[in-house]
Amino acid sequence: MACFSVLFCLLFSLFFIIAQSKPAILLNTSPYLSPTTILNYQKMVQNFKVFIYKPNKPFNYTTQAESLFYATLQNSHFVTHNAEEANLFFVPFSPDLSLRSLARFIGNLRTDLPYWNRALGADHFFLSCDGLGHDSNRNVVELKKNSVQISCFPAAGGYFIPHKDLTLPPIVYNPHALPENRTVRFLGYVRHKAVTSPSLIDELVNYREFCVETEPSDETTFAERLSSSKFCLFEYGNDVSWIGEALRFGCVPVMIADRPVNDLPFVDVLRWQELAVFLRSERVLGELKHVLHNTWRDRGERMKRSGAAASKHFVWNEKPEPLDSFNTVMYQLWLRRHTVRYARAE
Ligand SMILES: *[C@@H]1O[C@H](CO)[C@@H](O)[C@H](O)[C@H]1NC(C)=O
Ligand SMILES: *[C@@H]1O[C@H](CO)[C@@H](O)[C@H](O)[C@H]1NC(C)=O
Repeated sequence: MACFSVLFCLLFSLFFIIAQSKPAILLNTSPYLSPTTILNYQKMVQNFKVFIYKPNKPFNYTTQAESLFYATLQNSHFVTHNAEEANLFFVPFSPDLSLRSLARFIGNLRTDLPYWNRALGADHFFLSCDGLGHDSNRNVVELKKNSVQISCFPAAGGYFIPHKDLTLPPIVYNPHALPENRTVRFLGYVRHKAVTSPSLIDELVNYREFCVETEPSDETTFAERLSSSKFCLFEYGNDVSWIGEALRFGCVPVMIADRPVNDLPFVDVLRWQELAVFLRSERVLGELKHVLHNTWRDRGERMKRSGAAASKHFVWNEKPEPLDSFNTVMYQLWLRRHTVRYARAE
């Protein structure tokens, strides 16, 4: 006990010294919503337990992100074979399983084991890149409305319930180190796959401050483009697969969207308002240059640093590493385990 309090005092003084000596501006570049993220993450790593049901038949997921997540989960230390100690339950099923078969599968879980009925599926989660469709069957309704659905970012509209569902960040394997010469040359980088509005493209090609191109010639050029631009433009609904790379290479994402974007990866963890600029399309035509210049002047460098710090969460590894995409999805599930779970004696 004495040892504990000495340690505690030491840690506390250390924290105090660090807190006092660190200039406020550095503290502000944390990409996290909560100051206790890293501490909670460590608790998650030590305590989180997931019970995986046996699928009704062997299957493979169709997207790379789902397959990698599932394979990694199965081999991880999060898995428990003792359902009694599980915090959450994973329901694996084939993406092409008919809703009728899915209903039967959930029906069997309900009757064979006591776990589904305890919270009507609320402490269960499943993978569905495209999102689960609607059905009137009770089993499917509970799965869709109560269980946590993990979709792929960007999620299909109508198939995603923001307060409980999550998205997997897109998979990118960009082995490129930061380019040596990171002189900022462009206010904005515009890639045709990400911005398709013809009027916006027509306007931006006229400005020398914007780099507008169809495809970068290769990955090295792409990395250079991102590092030499202050902002990277994305129209929500088009190709957003390189948002993690934009963050990593210091190109602040500008998300052009006419509705709230609520399916961003890690919304419970990252301070997206500090990582990206959100603009309605009506503010873009004619005003974009002005808005971006002002944003850069007020908080550009800070956003860029937060983005670089956040980008480690967008890295997928064959073998998971601390704070990478897989572990951050697990962390988000851990954060939601109480929100979704009905009260139960612990
Ligand atoms: C799943 O994929 C593996 C590896 O590609 C393959 O060997 C296996 O037959 C597939 N299983 C099914 C049920 O399609
Ligand atoms: C970096 O690139 C810019 C733009 O191409 C160029 O003007 C500058 O001289 C380069 N700096 C170095 C150190 O190579």
